Amino acid sequence: MRVLGSLLRGCINFLSPQGIENACDIQTPVHEIILPENAPEQAHNLAIVQITDTHLHDEDHVVNSGLIFDALSKAEKQLNVQNIPTEKRVLVFTGDLVSAQTQFAKASVLSDAEAFCDQLRQHPGFARKWYVLGNHDEMHPQIEDIKALLQQAGFERLRHDSFCGVDFSGTPDYWETAEAFDDVFLDDLIHRVQQNIFTVILSHNPDWVDHQEGHKFLEEIREKAFLVLAGHTHGCQIDIPLLRKFILWNSKFKSELISGFYERGNGQVYVSPGVGVQHQLPHRYGKKAIPEIPTFILKSS
Ligand SMILES: [Fe+2]
Repeated sequence: MRVLGSLLRGCINFLSPQGIENACDIQTPVHEIILPENAPEQAHNLAIVQITDTHLHDEDHVVNSGLIFDALSKAEKQLNVQNIPTEKRVLVFTGDLVSAQTQFAKASVLSDAEAFCDQLRQHPGFARKWYVLGNHDEMHPQIEDIKALLQQAGFERLRHDSFCGVDFSGTPDYWETAEAFDDVFLDDLIHRVQQNIFTVILSHNPDWVDHQEGHKFLEEIREKAFLVLAGHTHGCQIDIPLLRKFILWNSKFKSELISGFYERGNGQVYVSPGVGVQHQLPHRYGKKAIPEIPTFILKSS
């Protein structure tokens, strides 16, 4: 199967250099999020930079740590232009630092992930750094090393925390650990969202928002303001509108949460296409699949 994978990859690379070029052209969009009227003053101008789905493979890979770090530096320059101080900057990583084994490829070696985390460790630009794990991290044989790398890079695994008057919660991954979304976890999350003026939820896989049995989450917090930041889908990676439902291979539910903003009650879900690519397919095509490191700036209404 791996020989077949290599052959397939070679053919696609030969036929489609544009797809590789697209995958390397990482954008840095900035989105303003309007806070509810009664939000605490210190939440104004809080900036959240999101990196997701880096899928770092090895140093020779086209989308490597250097390329991703350059895009992060560009995102930070944009914050400098907006005069947002370091004390108001948060960096979040929403999973899939590396790739787990697939039928076409071996699990990633961690050398480029180490280089990336080392760059981040030495980087002082953020007041807080949080992470949640993705399905590939959970499935990787070196999951403990992955957690250690992120910790050494200054990231804390997010459960619940608060910063500048905003509540932040992290979820387990819904693909590998759906059973963790039991009543105890959901009740706790719902309670936190209900208690706060504005909550940010980090979650690798966005599917749980719509597909929890009975839509319990949405039913109970419909009136509250929240922002879910997710990744996982890669925006289909090869985004052909008519084939989206078939190509979205990594949603068990063929969810409509693919890329960009989705309104849910008074809250919003943002699905970032992320920066990395699948082992066997180092290409991106289509407007939902544009690689990115997005920034969200909270603004008082
Ligand atoms: Fe991913």
